Amino acid sequence: MIPEDARTEAGRLRELIRHHNRLYYAENRTEITDGEYDALMRRLVELEKLWPGLKADDSPTLRVGSEPLSQFPAIVWDPPMLSLDNVFSEEQFREWDRRIAREVQTESPPVYSVEPKLDGLAVALVYREGILERAGTRGDGREGEDVTPNVRTLRTVPLKLRGKPPGSLVVRGEVIFRRDDFQDLNRKREKEGLEPFVNPRNAASGSLRQLDSRITAGRPLSFIAYGTAEWPDGIDSMRSLFRYLDRLGIPVNPWNEACTGAEEVCGAYRRLAEERDRLPWDIDGVVVKLDRADMQGRMGVVSRFPRWATAWKFRAEEAVTKLLDIELQVGRTGRLTPVARLEPVFVGGVTVSSATLHNEDELRRKDARPGDTVIVRRAGDVIPEVVRSLGNPEGERSVPFRFPASCPVCGGPVAREENEAAHRCMNPSCPARLRESLFHWGSRDALDIEGLGGKLSEQLVETGLVRDVSDLYSLSEEQLSLLERMGEKSAGSLIVQLERSRKAGLQRFLTGLGIPGIGRTVAGFLAESFQGIREMMEADEETLTGVEGVGPVLAESLHRFFHDPVTRGVVERLLEAGFDPAGSVPGEGAGALEGLTIVFTGSISLPRSAARTIAEKCGARVTGSVSSNTDIVVAGPGSGSKLEQARRLGIRVIDEEEFLELAKGTEGSRPSP
Ligand code: IVH
Repeated sequence: MIPEDARTEAGRLRELIRHHNRLYYAENRTEITDGEYDALMRRLVELEKLWPGLKADDSPTLRVGSEPLSQFPAIVWDPPMLSLDNVFSEEQFREWDRRIAREVQTESPPVYSVEPKLDGLAVALVYREGILERAGTRGDGREGEDVTPNVRTLRTVPLKLRGKPPGSLVVRGEVIFRRDDFQDLNRKREKEGLEPFVNPRNAASGSLRQLDSRITAGRPLSFIAYGTAEWPDGIDSMRSLFRYLDRLGIPVNPWNEACTGAEEVCGAYRRLAEERDRLPWDIDGVVVKLDRADMQGRMGVVSRFPRWATAWKFRAEEAVTKLLDIELQVGRTGRLTPVARLEPVFVGGVTVSSATLHNEDELRRKDARPGDTVIVRRAGDVIPEVVRSLGNPEGERSVPFRFPASCPVCGGPVAREENEAAHRCMNPSCPARLRESLFHWGSRDALDIEGLGGKLSEQLVETGLVRDVSDLYSLSEEQLSLLERMGEKSAGSLIVQLERSRKAGLQRFLTGLGIPGIGRTVAGFLAESFQGIREMMEADEETLTGVEGVGPVLAESLHRFFHDPVTRGVVERLLEAGFDPAGSVPGEGAGALEGLTIVFTGSISLPRSAARTIAEKCGARVTGSVSSNTDIVVAGPGSGSKLEQARRLGIRVIDEEEFLELAKGTEGSRPSP
């Protein structure tokens, strides 16, 4: 028997979480901090774990994902999910319109629904009695993959419909990545040494089709509806359908327009083509549909396409140019990216002289060779890419590009590992890798060393002063000041910064090491699970897999890093150089504020300088402004914008008393009376 108060509490928590989701996603505002939201969610997960009978098909806890599947079950679509026929020019569109006008035979020109054509993955959501029961991909239109646990993790998909939902409703729409979310994801992946996605559409498909829905839960996918499998009762047009879906809480595209006749459709097409780069998502055209249900019915369906709709594709922002050469860029993790050097060409508003070719498979598929004439595309803000090769119209083609067996920068061995698309230089002291590693070590999420930028990293490698990150800690002020564009003053302050960085906690230290797959977030979970670096280095893969966010792949990556003689050697030398990074699991003698970044604001009874000294003695770093790197804000009465900022960013806020309580744990941290 589930106690009544557990049931009541779970119900109340669900309502609260749904309320905050609605504010966040539908109204774009918040009433609570992320931290408070997470706390509500954690409590609900805890209750459902304690009393499994409390679990429900519409519980917001489903959004965190569940145990991995071995394969996706099939899901059958009846009526099938159709695709769209295309037109590519105004002329073709007008011809299509004339045929429609002829066949539907109305007195006045037909009304069309003009919608952006989102470039993602088609998905259908099956609701029964208002609860999301199943969800699946289009597949071949008749049978798709059942990706229910994954779709439940999408915050824009309601698990429970609002208002008065019908007994059964099948909503169809597109799962997409917003451009900003896509760029964040790729930046994060690159930082973590993972393969970036080629475009938002691939990222959406790759993220949704994960057997482990907990991975999908970490990817900010969006869903936008464009129709239903069958017309709901009383709904007789696309206009009223969109309003209806919106009332049920299902996201629809805000750019939909009703247009009477071809002329108005052409206007809407031009407006959307104009807006295209400013929209939050990639679109590749507009979809024009007959607005009225009865007219759609009259036009019917042929094979895989409805005859009442067409996709009017945008002209892609493409240009033709000559591929001069293919070069390889070496990243921090040794990844070799083939880059096309191009004869400069104007495309999508900018001049492009290089474009990515992604990896060996893509390169082979496109068969682009130096000397070829190629088509280059720029989609929104995404890096330009070579779409395909037109061969060499002027003469004989050069031989296909082959990945070298040795690194073009250091001559070290190059390998392509199983299940990986990328080739990597395996030499950890490759100058190109080293330069990127130093730069990463000093970055804000890692050791946050002001002054250790790209240029200096390059100089340190070129001059041979640094052969791995640990060498940074034996540099002298004199050596540094001899470097080009390095005065005595900047050399001095870099030394101070390096000195300070030795006190960093485990999270920053691990992030800085750049272990494949280990970014700031996972490093944070690891730091919460180990007392210090030594315990972590000795942990076996099983123990590592027990840490939140660490699956077998990351556990292996960590284990390999700490047992490879070269990488382990770097860590050992850092420890010899005075690093002793502690996790946030309190251990004997560990400073309670070790490695944390603290901001004081408002009036506190201690003089600021004394508060700062205490914090620093406990291993913390004190800064003046609140950012996402801040760990704790100590706020006294009269705190203003800094406190607000902290709340917005979900940063832990404590008062002076609590601060002193935390500091107590560290010996010698109290000021002498
Ligand atoms: S209607 C019965 N509307 O484009 C017609 N599709 O190329 C089915 N798409 O499979 C689709 N935006 O995944 C429709 N506003 C929109 C759309 C849209 C994107 C996708 C959809 C479809 C594909 C066809």
